[in-house]
Amino acid sequence: QIVDRHETDSNSEGGKMEKKRKKKKICFESAELSKVVEEEQVKKLVKEAWSQRSPYSQGDLELDCQPFPHCIIRNFLSSETFVENLQKELLGLNFHEKSNDLYKFKQSDDLKKRTEPHIAGLRAALFGPFLDISCAKYEHTDILLCHDDELEGRRVAFILYLVPPWQSSDGGTLDLYTTDSNFQPKSILKSLVPSLNTLVLFEVSPVSFHQVSEVLTQDKCRLSLSGWFHGPSLERSPRHIEPPVPRNPHLPRDETLLLEWINPVYLDIAYQEQVQGEFEDSSEIQLKDFLKEEKFREVSEVLRLNQIQWTKRGPPNKRCYEVASLDTLPQCVSACWELLHSEAFFLLLSNFTGLQLHYLCPADDDDDDDDDEDEKEGNQDKEEKEDVKDVQATGSLTETSETTNEKKELSTPVCSAELRRWSHGSYTLLHDGEAARAEYALDLILPFGCADWQSEYGGFTCYVANEEDEEVNIDHMYPEDNCLALVYRDKETLKFVKHVNQKSSSDSTCRAFYDYSFVYYE
Ligand SMILES: *[C@@H]1O[C@H](CO)[C@@H](O)[C@H](O)[C@H]1NC(C)=O
Repeated sequence: QIVDRHETDSNSEGGKMEKKRKKKKICFESAELSKVVEEEQVKKLVKEAWSQRSPYSQGDLELDCQPFPHCIIRNFLSSETFVENLQKELLGLNFHEKSNDLYKFKQSDDLKKRTEPHIAGLRAALFGPFLDISCAKYEHTDILLCHDDELEGRRVAFILYLVPPWQSSDGGTLDLYTTDSNFQPKSILKSLVPSLNTLVLFEVSPVSFHQVSEVLTQDKCRLSLSGWFHGPSLERSPRHIEPPVPRNPHLPRDETLLLEWINPVYLDIAYQEQVQGEFEDSSEIQLKDFLKEEKFREVSEVLRLNQIQWTKRGPPNKRCYEVASLDTLPQCVSACWELLHSEAFFLLLSNFTGLQLHYLCPADDDDDDDDDEDEKEGNQDKEEKEDVKDVQATGSLTETSETTNEKKELSTPVCSAELRRWSHGSYTLLHDGEAARAEYALDLILPFGCADWQSEYGGFTCYVANEEDEEVNIDHMYPEDNCLALVYRDKETLKFVKHVNQKSSSDSTCRAFYDYSFVYYE
């Protein structure tokens, strides 16, 4: 089908285009395609193989259906001079830096309007004026992370590589993923190394997960043309919904824990009020030197020991980083975990933020806290029971705004928590599931081991506003040793952690940093 489409494009549409263009006095070089895509017999066999999901190869053309159907055509344009000139014209275009959770690369001006003879020639001969087509430049540390390309109408994706001699150690491979029973990407089955004048086509479907791996070469440019052939979308089953991350109420620990761990500055009531004022103005605050110096150092050192078992969290279309297995935490690391989980800390956070993270904290209009202590003792038992109930309630996925509001009156504050390790290749992505489930929450991040971490390595947290399908960057939080970051986010705010690139490990040692990541819910 795809090859048919080519033929139609180059024979009829392309032909018409040529005449039209000539009328407008735009001259272009006509592009001749490899013989193999013009042969009727090959077309027929490719079509058959593609629909039966079986492999096929003929000369420069190779069709493979694992992990999903894709086709590689080498020496796609028959004239080397044409390829060279095309490359030159493309490199002469304006490129714009593109960067978000999913990618970092440079994209050219819109190719539809370009009048350079070889660009216009290729467009006319091959793709016609009605297709998405753009030119991308991937240089050192550029990347396009795992995604499926699915968008209304996209049926077949194509990429034409215009690269200098390239090896897999240069990075920038097109990696194709297998999927699990939930149609989630699992592992890379095939990596295609880009090569000059090779065209790759693949079917866009719920399982067509792929990535452009990070470009590792410092001095070569991975230039490519890419786009989609459009057609009716495939039926798809609803997207998989992940089980929610468990949430727990505070642990019953008193203020001695705070005195033991936290820089006394932050326990001063007047200072807490000042922090709260600032937090209420900007919904975020960074508290430097948060832990006592010796505590911070102790935890930093122990985190680097090999005692902790780290487990990779996926799937790759959503995240890639490591989390600590709690039962392997050394004493001081787990004590710090307990601190952030403790009743006393929930109270401290309430003071910092004005949020009600404890039933004892006054609501804005209620400042009667004379008999705190009695109340605390008396309610302890009852509270524990409610906690259990509430965890179950928040564990369910269906939340209309009404039930959330109703629940709020009764709810016990809870938190979810992870101790994470970030190193070359780590990231998190925004994704549909997360957007649907966004809710009011207080994020806490406490980083360790990032003394010489540079922002250009990635690993920073980006907050974006999710406004009518458009994502607007609203904030960056760069990891900083012993600096407690608090961010209050609303239902429209999503976050991701920028891909940690090769610059983080350029001097042959792989750098890593760690953070406690807690999310608190009122
Ligand atoms: C929070 O503030 C109240 C006074 O506003 C104070 O009594 C209490 O000790 C503070 N809590 C913490 C954990 O610092």
